[in-house]
Amino acid sequence: MEKFLWGSATAAYQCEGAWNVDGKGNSIWDDFCHSEANVKGITGDVSCDFYHHYKEDIRMMAECGQTTYRFSISWSRILPKEDHVVNEAGFKFYDDVLAECKKYNIVPNVTLVHYDLPDYIGNKGGWLYDKVADEFAYYASVVFKHFGDRIPLYVTINEPTHNASCAYLTGNYPPNEKNVNHYAKCIYNMVMCNAKAIREFRKLDLNAKIGLVHASCSADILVDSEEYRVAQRNCEWFINGCVLDPAIKGEFDKDFVLKVKESNIDLSFVNEDDLAIIKENTIDFLGQNAYCRNVVKPYTTGETKVTVNNSGKGPAREGKIIKGWFESDFNDSMKLNKWGREIYPKCIYNCLIRRKKAYGDIPIYITECGHGAYDVADENGYVEDDDRIAFLNDFIYWILKAKEEGCNVKGFYVWSTMDLYSWINGYEKRYGLVRVDYNDPELPRIPKKSYYWYKEFIKEHSL
Ligand code: NOJ
Repeated sequence: MEKFLWGSATAAYQCEGAWNVDGKGNSIWDDFCHSEANVKGITGDVSCDFYHHYKEDIRMMAECGQTTYRFSISWSRILPKEDHVVNEAGFKFYDDVLAECKKYNIVPNVTLVHYDLPDYIGNKGGWLYDKVADEFAYYASVVFKHFGDRIPLYVTINEPTHNASCAYLTGNYPPNEKNVNHYAKCIYNMVMCNAKAIREFRKLDLNAKIGLVHASCSADILVDSEEYRVAQRNCEWFINGCVLDPAIKGEFDKDFVLKVKESNIDLSFVNEDDLAIIKENTIDFLGQNAYCRNVVKPYTTGETKVTVNNSGKGPAREGKIIKGWFESDFNDSMKLNKWGREIYPKCIYNCLIRRKKAYGDIPIYITECGHGAYDVADENGYVEDDDRIAFLNDFIYWILKAKEEGCNVKGFYVWSTMDLYSWINGYEKRYGLVRVDYNDPELPRIPKKSYYWYKEFIKEHSL
């Protein structure tokens, strides 16, 4: 029987650094971080410099007993300009990373785009650009042809709904907008990117699988009434169904589409040819990230608004008001992290059970699970991150319980392999199993207590 995979994850812009070396083009995150819109002024220019430390990082994964590594490819390292000329140095870097994984029998799980569109796509409208799906499919085919089945698990897009929400509802990710119509078009184009990339993938008949990584766990309600159940269903459509239905079942839910139309959201971009492509090109597996749930109640009043807590200073709660659909509810008895998010490990069990009900036995990898914290290191740089250990341990407990009850879970990835750039939260919100000392130019890696805990855990749970 196939072994359950235990590993950890990173993403290109968050860990590679080397933002302008060896022929790499700029991504929208390079541009955003170097612009005035980046109020905190923190960038991923260097980060933990995985570009030059990958051997050490992969060796440490192997020494921890990890059997899989999820990372992403920087599109603008492979195709730096819109002329489609390949940057061979970009290929070489990922060839080297893959060779290093192979040396330790670590299974690579590789995402094609983790938020970082090339700037030449961004300048034409980014995810709203009418040809973004064709451009993405072209890039994907270049990657599939070059790496082939050296990558057994491909992921098209990381967290479409979260990316779209931050970019077009909250406005904390580039292009920093608050526009529901753009949000809808972004989601649609991402669904098309996924389908068109899969169409390229199938042409090659590789010995590999392709999936998509999804952000949200399921939506919960605190009151069992008809009105609340409607709010819950609306939220499920909004955060899950809008992407998972077309990606897994090949079509949008008809009642969902009606609801979108009733909300006067402009759907003029939808066309029959696209819907046929979606129908024929669905994913082989689902990557499900596991952080927290959405608690909702019926919509009361106000315009659509999505807020997040990027300060980490106290309990300000993240919240959504989606006009006419639902709004956030809060259970005040729950434990919260410093960014105001609930710590509720059972959410992943509920999510997996509901995914099984909605989508059957599609294989699921838990592609991220992690605890953000202000770590405190001792004089040797050692971090006793007991909270992180408890968080991971409890989430894994519920994941394995769902697996025992028949959910088709095939692997688990801690977010993150080592400390890295955490988008708008910068560097102080840390998730790594391994500490990176950013004050030392050598960027030394020091395993945390959670690294040793994970090592023992994997040893005891070789499933
Ligand atoms: C999900 C995203 O994929 C990743 O990039 C991010 O850093 C983590 N969540 C933690 O917030």
